[in-house]
Amino acid sequence: MSEGGKQRDRERLVKALRDNLRRRKASPGEIVEPQAGDGAAAQAGGRAEAAIVKRRSAQDGKETVVDRIKITGGAKLNGTIPISGAKNAALPLMIASLLTPYTLELENVPRLADVQTLLRILANHGVDYAVNGKRPGEKAETGQTLRLTAASIVDTTAPYELVSKMRAGFWVIAPLLARLGEARVSLPGGCAIGTRPVDLLIMALERLGAAIEIEAGYVVAKAPHGLKGAEIVFPKVTVGGTHTALMGAVTAEGTSVIRNAAREPEVTDLARCLVSMGARIEGAGSSTITVHGVAALSGARHAVLPDRIETGTYAMAAAMAGGDVLLEGARPDLLQSVLDAIAQAGAEISVTNEGVRVRRNGEGLSPVDITTNPFPGFPTDLQAQFMALMSRARGTSVIRETIFENRFMHVQELARLGARIRLDGDAAYVEGVERLNGAPVMATDLRASVSLVIGALAAEGETLINRVYHLDRGFEALESKLSRCGAQIERLSG
Ligand code: UD1
Repeated sequence: MSEGGKQRDRERLVKALRDNLRRRKASPGEIVEPQAGDGAAAQAGGRAEAAIVKRRSAQDGKETVVDRIKITGGAKLNGTIPISGAKNAALPLMIASLLTPYTLELENVPRLADVQTLLRILANHGVDYAVNGKRPGEKAETGQTLRLTAASIVDTTAPYELVSKMRAGFWVIAPLLARLGEARVSLPGGCAIGTRPVDLLIMALERLGAAIEIEAGYVVAKAPHGLKGAEIVFPKVTVGGTHTALMGAVTAEGTSVIRNAAREPEVTDLARCLVSMGARIEGAGSSTITVHGVAALSGARHAVLPDRIETGTYAMAAAMAGGDVLLEGARPDLLQSVLDAIAQAGAEISVTNEGVRVRRNGEGLSPVDITTNPFPGFPTDLQAQFMALMSRARGTSVIRETIFENRFMHVQELARLGARIRLDGDAAYVEGVERLNGAPVMATDLRASVSLVIGALAAEGETLINRVYHLDRGFEALESKLSRCGAQIERLSG
């Protein structure tokens, strides 16, 4: 599309948006959730067959708010755990659908509360979506296929009620700005793991020519004449910042260079999908990414990469409980630093055609020191789980958290199970104990919650984990995946 055509397209969309806002003023407070297949989807490639489409997944965070998980420790894990699509890749990929009026089809999307929340955010902007139902032979954790079509964007505001549930919701700011020249997005929420600012995301958009103001808890971004290619230098590695810069740059006029970019596999996955949509991106996966802006993007079909955090979590669960578990579909190259640490702790790791196999028989665990770092370093999202594992090691390990402040909220809950951990600044000194004991504990954030599951698997007696809605945000079918391998785990509703 020419620059003139692009400008006309933008003006047409802004006009449609204003009409919609006028309509909405007549009925304030309403969150618009268009139906799959109405107008937009039909325009962009037709309806998905009604038989396989269901509008909303039954998995709705609300239903599970008061659920608890009961684990009776001591059982070994033996069997196969299928690894789901990565939540942290699925979310930015879904957001990328805002960049094009054509359909983006995403396969292997995990069934998670965060995916549901993001679907609500996208629907509020006018994205039509269809979620395929399960086909014969598919298991509860078989990834779903989403078809997302943003033929017309009806609202450029991402409201507090939705964005406050999940930090990644903030990332819609970049494609909205790129496509329509304006966006108004609530400052984010998400896990309570210390201060998580968005200054670097804003800096990236400003570098691309956006004018940004903060008004009553909202970031208001404007670029009425479109974004312009620029050099963006991140003073600190940020995954969300890199996603934002990429989505802003792909349709900007001219070339952008992103320096000190995040090298996380989820960034590479987003870049690969954007390239399938017609973007011109070089260097994704390295710390310098070059983006040559294109006039418009098309639709595409893309499969979400396997979840490295889920893989590492179950690898640690198997190392903790003992036994022999195949992590089916896992990609070892996505978490080599983690597999090395688990092997050093004493579990046997082998790579097969089907995935990664983790075994530990009888032998005690050795202490291993780790420091969290951006990829390919040890991921912060596995720090809590590794601490749980080290709580049973024969000796003291030092776990250093360098990515987020205050990401040690699991420490006091692990202590309730009998773990001996001393905090000193960004370091936790974990003195391994011979046995942990079951106790009532509280999930505090997504990754911390699952560290309690790992602790409980090896604790004597019963552990009751409260506030498990955190787990539902990030771990698909956790109880069934673990119980099929022999864990004594059940969900207590209400
Ligand atoms: C993403 C992941 C999260 C993971 C984190 C680090 C998703 C949905 N979430 O979060 O699970 O723990 O990467 O691997 O993919 N920072 C700033 N200013 C900013 C942005 C970030 O100072 O504007 C800081 C943060 O406070 C933190 C560091 O940069 O100290 C890294 O954060 P970032 O990589 O941006 O995390 P997220 O993208 O939010």
